[in-house]
Amino acid sequence: MTDVLVVDDDLAIREMVALALEKRGYRVVRAQSLAAARTALRERRPDLILSDIYMPGGTGLDLLKEIQDLDDPPPIILMTARGTIETAAAALKEGVFDYLAKPFDLDVMLARVQAALADRTPAPPAPKEGPESLIVGSHPALVAVYKAIGKVAPLKVPVLILGETGTGKELVARALHRFSARPGGPFVPVHCGAIPDTLIESELFGHRRGAFTDAQKDRRGALALAHGGTVFLDELGEISPVFQVKLLRFLEDGVIQPLGAEKGEAVDVRVVAATHRDLKAMVAAGTFREDLYYRIAGFEVRIPPLRERISDLPDLVAHFQARFQRDLGLPEPGAPSPAVLSLLAAHPWPGNVRELGHVVRRALIEAGALEDAGVLLRILGGAEPELAGPLPASPLSFTPPFLPLEDLEQAYILAVLSHCGGNKTEAARLLGIERKTLARKLRRPEGPDTEEPERDL
Ligand SMILES: Nc1ncnc2c1ncn2[C@@H]1O[C@H](COP(=O)(O)OP(=O)(O)OP(=O)(O)O)[C@@H](O)[C@H]1O
Ligand SMILES: [Mg+2]
Repeated sequence: MTDVLVVDDDLAIREMVALALEKRGYRVVRAQSLAAARTALRERRPDLILSDIYMPGGTGLDLLKEIQDLDDPPPIILMTARGTIETAAAALKEGVFDYLAKPFDLDVMLARVQAALADRTPAPPAPKEGPESLIVGSHPALVAVYKAIGKVAPLKVPVLILGETGTGKELVARALHRFSARPGGPFVPVHCGAIPDTLIESELFGHRRGAFTDAQKDRRGALALAHGGTVFLDELGEISPVFQVKLLRFLEDGVIQPLGAEKGEAVDVRVVAATHRDLKAMVAAGTFREDLYYRIAGFEVRIPPLRERISDLPDLVAHFQARFQRDLGLPEPGAPSPAVLSLLAAHPWPGNVRELGHVVRRALIEAGALEDAGVLLRILGGAEPELAGPLPASPLSFTPPFLPLEDLEQAYILAVLSHCGGNKTEAARLLGIERKTLARKLRRPEGPDTEEPERDL
């Protein structure tokens, strides 16, 4: 009989997983903490461990380290609810067999358990990655992206990543490579946008000396360079109909023929592509080949725009604050107030996470922190005004976490001000109060509630 140790401090998850395993005939030992897991391990060595990562008293990664000191350690599958892929990456680096992002389907869990028991060789260690490759966020829509990465990364199917500009398509492409079967192989990005056909052809397939006027020596293309790894075709929606045919041919036979070369050469490359365009609509309009679309969209990963997962904003702000503080050598900026977070949450973020990063960076440079609403409003108002759109949601739709009334008033005022591009006269008109009253309310957190001569925000 196969023994499985299930470790989770959350009773509901522990029972759900344990019962599903028992129904399939596994013998399950339950542990609600790291200490209980240690005791269980001393009593009987399981064939497999399923463990939560964050538990009071120690993490699943601690457990992993301890287990690896045993001879012939059992495989371990980590289950995590924290939506950062960082944990998964750290776990894989430690040599863990697999991980599951919560919430997961029980069928998926059972399949992973079977796979882990069938193949006890650990996954190859992933190459070390810096904080720039971290995907931050735990909104359910982003957790779905992590799950998709976990599911499709190890398979050699082409993946199409869809998402607006700045949503993190390249980050996801890199994660797909990092969690692929060949993370040690090359990752070669190619920007397909707005390049003439000959250039992109030579970029991708390479050329022989003399193939065209400027071809002074042989050049290896991105596909040859990516042999044994991943090629990332960015801005795929921009390629010409002629080039679409060439790409399709490569996807069908895996053979590259450099410009001016006599014969082709087979390469073994995983293809990941991305676009901010609606490729399906382009297919319908006849500007993108349907056969190529179906070839490349073997699996689609759709990254939601930031405004649709605005609950991730505080984590993203903290991430960027920490990163830029370190990069720029600034003093610790401190956590932003709820009012500032609400002000940021009310922005439509047409440039998505990239735009948020720029705003945080500029605010840190100009004001040392995000607390200066005046600076923030100016940056938000001034950030590519042609991209600025109307507020996405009615200011009267509220979702948790809820704010104290005082903070709410402040946040609401700031949201209206943001909408007016920082114009206090217009904001006062919309709020139905005097401009003087508005100025006083805006000063309230620092000073006593008295009329003072007006100064700028
Ligand atoms: N979820 C996220 N967590 C942390 N950083 C992120 C996240 N999403 C995006 N970023 C950061 O935002 C910037 C833009 O991301 P990326 O280049 O991957 O976007 P993109 O979708 O490829 O955009 P474009 O279509 O404009 O090329 C990068 O600096 C990236 O590190
Ligand atoms: Mg990109």
